Amino acid sequence: MQVPINFKGKSDYDYTVYINELKDLKFDTKVAIITNPKVAGLHLATLLKKLEAPEVYIITVSDGESYKNQQSVDFILENLFNHRLDRKSLLIALGGGVIGDMTGYVASQFQRGIDFIQIPTTLLSQVDASVGGKTGINNAYGKNLIGAFHQPKAVYIESDFLKTLPSREFSAGVAEIVKMAVTFDKAFFHWLQDADLHNEDDLTEAVKKSVETKAKVVAMDEKEQGIRAVLNYGHTFAHVIENETGYRRYLHGEAVAIGMHKANILAEKLGLLSKQELLEIEALLQKYALPTYYMIDNPEAFYDGFFLDKKTYKSQIKFIFPKGIGGYEMRDNVPKEIVLEALMT
Ligand SMILES: NC(=O)c1ccc[n+]([C@@H]2O[C@H](COP(=O)([O-])OP(=O)(O)OC[C@H]3O[C@@H](n4cnc5c(N)ncnc54)[C@H](O)[C@@H]3O)[C@@H](O)[C@H]2O)c1
Repeated sequence: MQVPINFKGKSDYDYTVYINELKDLKFDTKVAIITNPKVAGLHLATLLKKLEAPEVYIITVSDGESYKNQQSVDFILENLFNHRLDRKSLLIALGGGVIGDMTGYVASQFQRGIDFIQIPTTLLSQVDASVGGKTGINNAYGKNLIGAFHQPKAVYIESDFLKTLPSREFSAGVAEIVKMAVTFDKAFFHWLQDADLHNEDDLTEAVKKSVETKAKVVAMDEKEQGIRAVLNYGHTFAHVIENETGYRRYLHGEAVAIGMHKANILAEKLGLLSKQELLEIEALLQKYALPTYYMIDNPEAFYDGFFLDKKTYKSQIKFIFPKGIGGYEMRDNVPKEIVLEALMT
């Protein structure tokens, strides 16, 4: 199964997302695989069996969001220079979104930009992070504040890799699937209500649908000047929640699930979503054991937290709401009192 991404007018950016088609990968250049010890232990051997290149180097960085930083980037770069990689060399990201974002960023910087391939191994990175060319790292000021748009040359999604994924991580990926369906595709949402993503065929179909949605959105708006921002549905709230809880209590997808529910509460107050639709979305999230409730002790402080987000432009909070199921609306003029009311619900 293949999903093409076509950037109109910039065909050298085009690439294909291959789903369950990782066969032989042959390159006549040096290749460096960037991964972490956990993923390497589980899946590196599978990749190596399929990979043919004159020289292959494995660079492992510590596992976790806290290592998605400049220090790890420097470590990877140093290895690339030590192994004498050049402008024709290729990087392969083997791992979840952390490895994918960081590898893409290194690829964008090394000798002013080299090719890279994404082999995402978490559900979240398969349906979202690996597609679209947003790369980056975190720093003391926040998440993903340093980065570049750098499209991969190809993305290889393999459902087999997900068999070793812990169930919480799996559900975190489902949150991003629900996100795509709620804002862009009503039929997909209703299909998800009946589907069982623990069933392999249903999962492959959901991954394909999500990737198709993301591919379409990204091709229309690579640099997030417009419609791509809709993919941030739930994220405005999620970022504050992740900040308040020190990035420890929730996985990103879990915070997004809560964030989507909060956005839905506000959307209902604004007349964009019916109570019935709000409950249907909540039920779908809960079907995969995703949290939807988060106690906000201090709504004013939470509200202030919105302004730390890099997407908060000129002191206006840009909210993404569902408009019914399968539609969206972006608003940056929601009165503070209504937001606070929703935060207290
Ligand atoms: N670039 C984008 O468009 C985009 C979009 C969404 C999220 N992101 C980024 O993605 C990151 C989150 O990605 P994530 O949720 O994949 O987290 P992650 O990369 O930290 O992976 C989660 C955990 O699962 C482990 N793991 C990975 N594959 C596994 C497997 N097959 N079996 C068992 N364990 C496995 C990882 O080692 C890690 O411990 C964040 O940094 C976020 O900012 C980027």
